[in-house]
Amino acid sequence: MTDVEKKSSHPVPTSWTYAPAPESTEIVQLRERYGLFVGGKWLDTKDHFATISPRDESPLAQVAQATEADVVNAVGVARDAFGAWSKLPGSEHAKYLFRIARILQERSREFAVLESLNGGKPIKESRDVDLPLAAAHFFYYAGWADKLEYAFPNRSPRPLGVAGQIIPWNFPLLMLAWKIAPALAGGNTVVLKPAETTPLTALLFCDVLRQAELPPGVVNIVTGDGSTGAALVDADVDKIAFTGSTEVGKAIQRRLAGTDKKLTLELGGKAANIIFDDAALDQAVEGIVNGIYFNQGHVCCAGSRLFVQESIAEPLIEKLKKRMATLRVGDPLDKNTDVGAINSKMQLEKIQELVQAGRDEGAEIYQPPCHLPEKGYWFAPTVFTNVAQSYRIAQEEIFGPVLSVLTFRTPDEAVEKANNTPYGLSAGVWTEKGSRILWMAERLRAGVVWANTYNRFDPTSPFGGYKESGFGREGGRHGVEPYLAFE
Ligand code: NAI
Ligand code: MG
Repeated sequence: MTDVEKKSSHPVPTSWTYAPAPESTEIVQLRERYGLFVGGKWLDTKDHFATISPRDESPLAQVAQATEADVVNAVGVARDAFGAWSKLPGSEHAKYLFRIARILQERSREFAVLESLNGGKPIKESRDVDLPLAAAHFFYYAGWADKLEYAFPNRSPRPLGVAGQIIPWNFPLLMLAWKIAPALAGGNTVVLKPAETTPLTALLFCDVLRQAELPPGVVNIVTGDGSTGAALVDADVDKIAFTGSTEVGKAIQRRLAGTDKKLTLELGGKAANIIFDDAALDQAVEGIVNGIYFNQGHVCCAGSRLFVQESIAEPLIEKLKKRMATLRVGDPLDKNTDVGAINSKMQLEKIQELVQAGRDEGAEIYQPPCHLPEKGYWFAPTVFTNVAQSYRIAQEEIFGPVLSVLTFRTPDEAVEKANNTPYGLSAGVWTEKGSRILWMAERLRAGVVWANTYNRFDPTSPFGGYKESGFGREGGRHGVEPYLAFE
């Protein structure tokens, strides 16, 4: 038989399955144990804790638990470094930021693999979203560093001093970039505390700082739990930038009330994703899926409340369920994975508790059939229909792959229901009518409103919340302002 005949004897496949496509972890070199990165050196501490991979619960490394004294020391080192760093011309600040951006691009595969390993997010997301956006953030703020006089004309901007920065576990390296890039562009020095479950990319970032020859003490990384974060809030810093839970954000705000320390808070959300009856349904379904299942729903701006105009609720939910059945849940390091591991046991338990509350309160649950690995932390993509506004799943941030569907009849009703939350971080509007988009955007109490798309990020675009979602903006020219003092 010839080759051609052989080929034509195979039937055309009627269903598609994906062969495993695992990304190799060989590119990542982990140490057994990490200290604190202070003054350009590694300092050891007395206590350590294990950081694991949520995909199989395997230990990855031992990480330092910084005490109050360690934090005070790091802030002192940042204060000492501030004098020389703040006096450098803006073009010098820019030089280092450009270097960091380029090194992140060069080492992006290594960072992406480590991010997925330590945090559980799919490699295609860390590779195609987290890493490019982190580098883009450094590039963007490098551009402002020598133009601050033009950015704030007649206001004589000057640096604040030492910035204490506390970040969460859902976008570990990207949140580091959101915090560090504008702080350095403004001429400040930094002490940053990564989240306890995802410290490893921040620790690898210290090697980028060494490569970029950033002067010692300008960026310091201290690891530890909430007590380390609390110590940083109380230390001699000029500003605190926090991203995390509303509960801790409120505690920090209380702590800083009456002090001179500046504060920005980026907290939780319960965003409304609103679909009008004239929207392109298939595109909307993609936006709904991206809105809630991206990064396992561990996203402060996740579209976790879906509002569907009543006349299209049935066909839309039908399409959504069909699409959910095609999501591949599993190993974060497989290049075909759409939904990875839940970040921690604690977060998994929170999701399970709220989903149980949804069942108990009478909502109808749908989960597509999928095989969840035995080890590690997993939760199937979930959608609840028949949800009332008073249910906990419509009120509380679940921070998991769980969508609550509600309906509306008129635009006024959509606005009223969408705004019926203590949060106000983001929203989505899907309609063919441009005028309706503008009408809605004017009335939605949300820092970001996406139109006919969702979860789009760009360093030029300011991001932040209303109400209990916090205050202050990150990104854009607005994002450097909280790191500056004005005459
Ligand atoms: P969290 O707010 O406790 O942790 C965020 C960061 O704050 C971590 O680095 C943590 O070590 C630090 N921290 C904790 N207590 C602190 C304190 N008293 N003072 C200063 N820093 C402190 O969030 P957690 O416990 O990890 O997650 C709980 C819930 O918060 C999640 O289920 C989710 O609903 C929400 N969350 C929202 C995030 C967002 O991006 N808006 C990010 C992470 C969590
Ligand atoms: Mg907490």
